[in-house]
Amino acid sequence: MTMKNGSSNVVRQRIDVDAITRARLKGQKPVTIWLTGLSAAGKSSIANALEVALVERGRHTYLLDGDNVRMGLCRDLGFSDTDREENIRRIAELGRLFVDAGLIVITAFISPFRADRELARTIIGDDAFIEVFVDTPLDECERRDPKGLYGKARAGLIKNFTGIDSAYEAPLNPDIRLETLGRSLPEVVSQILDYLDHQIVFE
Ligand code: ADX
Repeated sequence: MTMKNGSSNVVRQRIDVDAITRARLKGQKPVTIWLTGLSAAGKSSIANALEVALVERGRHTYLLDGDNVRMGLCRDLGFSDTDREENIRRIAELGRLFVDAGLIVITAFISPFRADRELARTIIGDDAFIEVFVDTPLDECERRDPKGLYGKARAGLIKNFTGIDSAYEAPLNPDIRLETLGRSLPEVVSQILDYLDHQIVFE
């Protein structure tokens, strides 16, 4: 597209800065690393440590975390099935934009429903979507209970709590499955880094 500049016949060429240009400038292939798992499975800790490791390697990243996003963009949403669906849809749209901006995005949301994660894959694009199942068993999450929420859910003080009275549909075929039991955080993070090694190289 061209733009005319006032009365003179100077014509300015619009410069198209597109996704490839932004990615090339950053020297990386942008992707969204989508962590899914129960509350207290370790998603936020893993996401945080992964981002640190990527930044140390000179990567340009952005981390979207459930609790934080729910304080801002999604503060109008609760935990009904339809609200969770809308939560995940918005995160996926953010992921799409940040991937377009050239960033390596890490998301940490329970994202309990398969259909919603599949929608996220569709929105972001199959080749830029990496599903990571943070596979921590429910009894271990409940034992950890860092926010005391499982206790409240068992006592009936919180309704629709994932794993208690709201479903968690584990991925059937995740790109990466992270077992966390008996493994250290650096071990788990290096499993993701090994997988990413070739995935995020700009070609
Ligand atoms: S999601 O299901 O829509 O993906 P999200 O990851 O954004 O959930 O938020 C989960 C966090 O919200 C949990 O880690 C927990 O701290 C808090 N939370 C509050 N109520 C619930 C609930 N009913 N079910 C699950 N998590 C809840």
